[in-house]
Amino acid sequence: MNAVTPALERMRARRVAKILSYEDARKGARRILPRGLFDYVDGGAEDEVTMRRNVQAFQDITFRPRMAVMNPEPKLATTVLGTPISMPVLTAPCGGMRLVHPEGDIGVAKASAKAGTIHVTSSASCFSLEEIAAGSTGGPKWFQLYRFFSGELMENLVIRAQAAGYEALVVTVDTVVAGNREKDYKNGFSYNMRVNAKNAVKMAPQMGIRPEWVYRFVRDGMPFALSNTLSPDGQAMLLTAMTRLATESQSPSWADMAWLRANWKGPLIIKGLLTSEDARRAVDVGAEGIVVSNHGGRQLENAPATIDVLPEIVDAVGGQTEILLDSGVRRGGDVLKALAIGAKAVLIGRNAAFGLAVGGQAGVDRMLSIIRADMVRTMRLMGLENVADLDRSWLTQQSIDRAMAAR
Ligand SMILES: Cc1cc2nc3c(=O)[nH]c(=O)nc-3n(C[C@H](O)[C@H](O)[C@H](O)COP(=O)(O)O)c2cc1C
Repeated sequence: MNAVTPALERMRARRVAKILSYEDARKGARRILPRGLFDYVDGGAEDEVTMRRNVQAFQDITFRPRMAVMNPEPKLATTVLGTPISMPVLTAPCGGMRLVHPEGDIGVAKASAKAGTIHVTSSASCFSLEEIAAGSTGGPKWFQLYRFFSGELMENLVIRAQAAGYEALVVTVDTVVAGNREKDYKNGFSYNMRVNAKNAVKMAPQMGIRPEWVYRFVRDGMPFALSNTLSPDGQAMLLTAMTRLATESQSPSWADMAWLRANWKGPLIIKGLLTSEDARRAVDVGAEGIVVSNHGGRQLENAPATIDVLPEIVDAVGGQTEILLDSGVRRGGDVLKALAIGAKAVLIGRNAAFGLAVGGQAGVDRMLSIIRADMVRTMRLMGLENVADLDRSWLTQQSIDRAMAAR
């Protein structure tokens, strides 16, 4: 430790204590991160229509509360695929988190374990999957899979994840190619934004006014490579390769599922589905779970809001597989809305990422405790004793009709 570090730690604690909501964390992250990095986390594909719709669709749903109920301690605990969790909120796989803060995915995993929930480790991380497993302090851990540039690399990741003790495999299928996030191109940001003369000149104006981030990043050794793709000769894939229109899919395809089902000894979850047809297909290939997700509006522009397609999917396969949802969850009330329609739990992406930017693990701790407190308060105001009691009778008919009409 040097003279600068204790001062930074005090600043971090003060900043974290001031966060009261998602918007506070987002604003805090905007002040700390270089613009290119903030936009990388915050932005969505093309005109960001799907990204905005995710949030709007949650806001359009209203509750049917039951008044005058004594309800001192609402129960939030549940299980997902047999794993008990203290509340129905998991932290989503997000690539590049070590650029956001040096504690990166390990900070998010530790915060999730402390909150009694599951972290899903991204395969596009700048820490290796083994480092995250070792650093994640014993909480339940799932591994998210990309295919990257070959089936061989994908299979190798599966074998490593099993050996490292990950309990479930989350197969992301919505990233055949990377979505068109124009801000990333305009900012010159990509995962392989290497420190070279060209990038240094381009980024200098934003870096100069983000000294704390620069200080931490340089001390962390400026990690850019995707550790999981490191080959024995020391070469790692740089994620700009993902942004190219390659012939090979970056996501596993249905053709890969038979191998994955046969070789993964544990629950298999398919992430990124938006229709009842695909949900049925997931059941047919033996997936124990699915994540209804549009990748936070970062992939297919004009994909529907996830909460709008949830009724269709629950009605099709609700009894046959566990259904999780992400994209647009900002407050505890959103979690309750997804559960009322039939999701078992939700995942949060940017919510945790912005907390991480503001305060490392402590920032993620804060975001998880805010969402928990939101849920407790909302449940008390609704007269709801247990998340297990949620069903569509807790939402107005108008809200459900609207979602059904979105089919
Ligand atoms: C910066 C960032 C990186 C992401 N990287 C991945 C990834 O590597 N793998 C993946 O399956 N999803 C990835 N996602 C998508 C998230 O897992 C999740 O689906 C999405 O963030 C949920 O939307 P929300 O941010 O509105 O909560 C990423 C999302 C963000 C914001």
